[in-house]
Amino acid sequence: MKTEIISLLRQRGTYVSGQELCERFRVSRTAVWKAVEQLKKDGYKIEAVKNRGYLLTEESGQVFGRTEIESRLKTNWIGQSLYYYDSIDSTNVQAKRLAEEGAPDGSLVVADQQTAGRGRRGRGWISPAGANLYFTLLLRPRIAPDKASMLTLVMAMAVARGIQSRMGDGRSPGGQNASVGIKWPNDIVIMGRKACGILTELSLSVEQGTIDYLVIGVGINVKRQTFSEELQGHAIALEEVLDEVSRSELLNAVLTAFEGYYEEFLATGDLTRLQKDYNELMVNLDQQVRVLDPKGEYEGIARGIRNTGELLVEIQGGETRAVYAGEVSVRGIYGYV
Ligand code: BTN
Repeated sequence: MKTEIISLLRQRGTYVSGQELCERFRVSRTAVWKAVEQLKKDGYKIEAVKNRGYLLTEESGQVFGRTEIESRLKTNWIGQSLYYYDSIDSTNVQAKRLAEEGAPDGSLVVADQQTAGRGRRGRGWISPAGANLYFTLLLRPRIAPDKASMLTLVMAMAVARGIQSRMGDGRSPGGQNASVGIKWPNDIVIMGRKACGILTELSLSVEQGTIDYLVIGVGINVKRQTFSEELQGHAIALEEVLDEVSRSELLNAVLTAFEGYYEEFLATGDLTRLQKDYNELMVNLDQQVRVLDPKGEYEGIARGIRNTGELLVEIQGGETRAVYAGEVSVRGIYGYV
């Protein structure tokens, strides 16, 4: 009922009588009063005035939790099963536990804090409370396992578009132009620095050689903070470029974008319909890059992705190589991008 009350107060923007709330939710006045008291404890500013009712006086964007997420999520199917935790070891690990217990396609795991957040290549992901957005989406797509890595790129596009939609004119508080882009394959970059990490993990059904489930974990830096040693110097938080960030609204923007992109992905089973959009978001398109291949590093010009997600790099002499994500990483020749 808390979610419904806050949604209604938000939608009306004026006083809603206790009587109306009682009738609408078929509960007693005391039950409504109790729910409102809990909402106030959650951080909502609600005024109660005799003979007028309840009014949501202001929203700061700082409130976060199950009610806030539920009331902001306007997706069609993602997050119908929502698991919210004030604190959890890792949303990816928890999503995998839930998947093993049978949680459905589109389940969403969100946490305010992670005590053992996971990054790529066995690294950790520092995840303090009240600061950033950490979530994991559980999917059960009927696609071949070798196609799963493309979904990380699909999520990267959704995160980039989601952040863009919250940016208005794209000017940071300092006045710089803060455009959002993707550094292949899935780092979200603002002003040359990383704002988000994505970690996709897969579980295969051994007998059938198909995907049992996959989890896509996303960590978006929202508040200014001390970053891990690995990220120090080339990480950025959204609050450096945006006045105020509501994590729940950002989550909704990202997941709404994801639903659209995922549909396009499933229609062809690859990135054919998304390639152009992805390349437009790529910060290093047509730039000189250095490919850090364990078999031998080389330089070339990034020419965008092909429809299966590999980066095409044109090397001197005109030869074009397809770079596979995984152990290979790509850097700008003068730095991170
Ligand atoms: C990277 O190293 O760039 C990927 C980082 C992914 C972090 C997110 S935070 C939410 C989800 N849960 C985790 O434990 N990791 C991912």
